[in-house]
Amino acid sequence: RKEHRDELYRVNQLAAKFFHNCLTQTEMGKPGLEYLQSRGLSKETIERFQLGFAPNNWDKLFRSFHERGIDERILIECGLCRKNDTGRIYDYFRNRVMFPICDGKGRVVAFGGRVLDDSTPKYLNSPEYELFNKGHMLFAFDKAYRTIREKKQVILVEGYMDVIGAHNRGVTNVVASLGTAYTKDQGRLLIRQAEEVVLAYDMDTAGQKAARRAIELLQDTEFKVRVVAMPDGKDPDDYVRNHGPEAFLELVAKAVSPFEFYLNSALISHDSNTAKGKEAILEEVFPLISVTSNQIERENYLKALALPLWLDNSTIYRMFRQYLTKGD
Ligand code: UTP
Ligand code: MN
Ligand code: MN
Ligand code: MN
Ligand code: MN
Repeated sequence: RKEHRDELYRVNQLAAKFFHNCLTQTEMGKPGLEYLQSRGLSKETIERFQLGFAPNNWDKLFRSFHERGIDERILIECGLCRKNDTGRIYDYFRNRVMFPICDGKGRVVAFGGRVLDDSTPKYLNSPEYELFNKGHMLFAFDKAYRTIREKKQVILVEGYMDVIGAHNRGVTNVVASLGTAYTKDQGRLLIRQAEEVVLAYDMDTAGQKAARRAIELLQDTEFKVRVVAMPDGKDPDDYVRNHGPEAFLELVAKAVSPFEFYLNSALISHDSNTAKGKEAILEEVFPLISVTSNQIERENYLKALALPLWLDNSTIYRMFRQYLTKGD
């Protein structure tokens, strides 16, 4: 078992090297290198993250690894290769820029690969297997760990490029939950390092929904949580590129509490002057209050709704109780 795991680590490390070499040393890798440069990444960043390119070729990695005597079964197991119906083995990642995914100790365990244009799927990721459980990982935790510890703060984003774009400009306490929802296991990774989690999720619907899920999971933990709103740009990578790291850090400094985040966004999407609008606003904010087990905090939230909605406390309490019984 131990030998098998070691072999999996070794093959992933070799694959990272293969992709990185292809990106930085070969003609084949040029489109990938140009792509990453066009997105503003420096040579240092490309080295630090060991970014790579999977050649536009059916089985280049497979053949090269086969020559070195690496068993095809292990390549299939860690998702680098697949076997088609006729029994032919081919590379899973082709013609994509490659992002190695490392565990907490910096060992490569998986990859994300992005297309160079706007075809789909935009990203392919290694399948989960013995070494790779998405819910247990935070992308770039190994590279962000020191700064997270120093600042006692972690900035949680959605995507590979959000992390890399931030690190590229010197904001190095940034990690990603990899498109999946933030999980409790990821929180466990952070627990002794950070006091504060700042969420900087995409401003699109999916991102805002994911932010809510993350907040609700984090609500009853010891973390202090705040949420960034990006006034323009779709995600942190866009923002850092358009406005620079200082402006991004200013947004982080101005990040609001979960309650403000819920209330602000509900007030934007509904008319607080109508009965229907008030109800819709409450429906949006109640999920946060219902996952708050501290009674005093709960009361403070409920009271804070009275003023912006022009409702009596007693009405709000009644509606909240209704909301809770409806949920059962
Ligand atoms: P986004 O669609 O926001 O992509 O997905 P992005 O990170 O901003 O990527 P760029 O800037 O277009 O290159 C956020 C994250 O969701 C996962 C990836 O981890 C991605 O970084 N994702 C997204 C996938 O796994 N597969 C997809 O097809 C799309
Ligand atoms: Mn190199
Ligand atoms: Mn998005
Ligand atoms: Mn992006
Ligand atoms: Mn994005």
